[in-house]
Amino acid sequence: MPLVVLVDNYKQKKEKSSLKMATSESTSTELLHAQAQIWNYIFNFISSSAVRCALQLGIPDVLYKHGKPMCLSDISAQLSVVNSSKVSFLPILMRFLVHSGFLNQHEDHYFLTPASRLLAKNEPFNVRSLLLLNHDPVFSKAWSELSAWFQNDSPTAFHTAHGKSFWDYIEEEEPKILSDIFNDALASDSRLNTNVLVMECKHVFEGLTSLVDVGGGTGIVSIAIARAFPNIKCTVLDLPHVIGDLKGSGNLEFVGGDMFDKIPHANAILLKCVLHDWRDDDCVKILKKCKESIPSREKGGKVIIIDTVLEDPKQSNELVRAQHNMDMLMMVLYAAKERTKKEWEKLFTEAGFTECKIIPALGLRSLIEIYP
Ligand SMILES: C[S@@+](CC[C@H](N)C(=O)[O-])C[C@H]1O[C@@H](n2cnc3c(N)ncnc32)[C@H](O)[C@@H]1O
Repeated sequence: MPLVVLVDNYKQKKEKSSLKMATSESTSTELLHAQAQIWNYIFNFISSSAVRCALQLGIPDVLYKHGKPMCLSDISAQLSVVNSSKVSFLPILMRFLVHSGFLNQHEDHYFLTPASRLLAKNEPFNVRSLLLLNHDPVFSKAWSELSAWFQNDSPTAFHTAHGKSFWDYIEEEEPKILSDIFNDALASDSRLNTNVLVMECKHVFEGLTSLVDVGGGTGIVSIAIARAFPNIKCTVLDLPHVIGDLKGSGNLEFVGGDMFDKIPHANAILLKCVLHDWRDDDCVKILKKCKESIPSREKGGKVIIIDTVLEDPKQSNELVRAQHNMDMLMMVLYAAKERTKKEWEKLFTEAGFTECKIIPALGLRSLIEIYP
């Protein structure tokens, strides 16, 4: 076969030349490796575009519903949205999804991985809204202004792109498209974490009689806490347009308001994924407001924070990569950030808290208790 001869010749030549010119050989190997590496940075967006395409075509839903591995012809027969002239391109998409670890393949059958299950509509913990939110043109425009923001006076890259803050944008937009996707993305994130929170971190809530979930969104976490701990009176505080006509019942209530103005009094305050939206000076203001609303440590006062404790960027596991992605997103949306242990401790001291306990129980996030 001519092709085999060619490859063998190439190998022999390569071996000879590497004996003669070990230095330039290793340099060219490094250069070719660098080329592949930079291509992968350049084409990083393809992974998430392919995943979004799979979601929009309904591939995770078909596999989820079937519950067993499926061959491509059976999958494509159920993807009614695919034009018949494009079916021949599906194998390209599928092999990319297998290569990137989104799908598993055994012989000619495909099946979902634990991660791709999280994109099926009927999966209770699905994170579809987070994907759609981050592919929305409103977000893409903010990312495209990142370098301009570094050079201008605008408070955030989001401002540079849209002339207003993210919070004002979602409050003012009509009809409410982005804000619904945003609230849904947060709610699904909370659903995913809540079981662990109330089951494995029970001790954090035991003995409390009241709790205010500040920036609690549509209340997914508080609903679970109120159910698991009937003796705790739970209040969800969020902006009036988020609370809308949400009504509580039993030991749960919703209050519209601004956490920078007033936080209702309680034994404990919960701040889940709130402080990473704010700059250090704003976080200190929020924490001081929280401190005014809780009793002394002796009387059981504390603030419970659920947020990322940023790991060393030199670690490259999935969890740390996800944390650093979120760090960048917080910068683009709010000129805020995720924080290292040292950065958290500095904030707590500035806000007048005296002790903190960090429990790394929630995957990307930790549970932090701080005491006045
Ligand atoms: C990242 S979300 C977290 C929501 C919820 N704690 C969760 O983890 O799903 C931040 C929340 O803070 C709320 N928020 C922003 N500014 C606020 C303010 N000034 N007062 C009260 N809530 C505010 C937002 O509306 C949003 O629901």
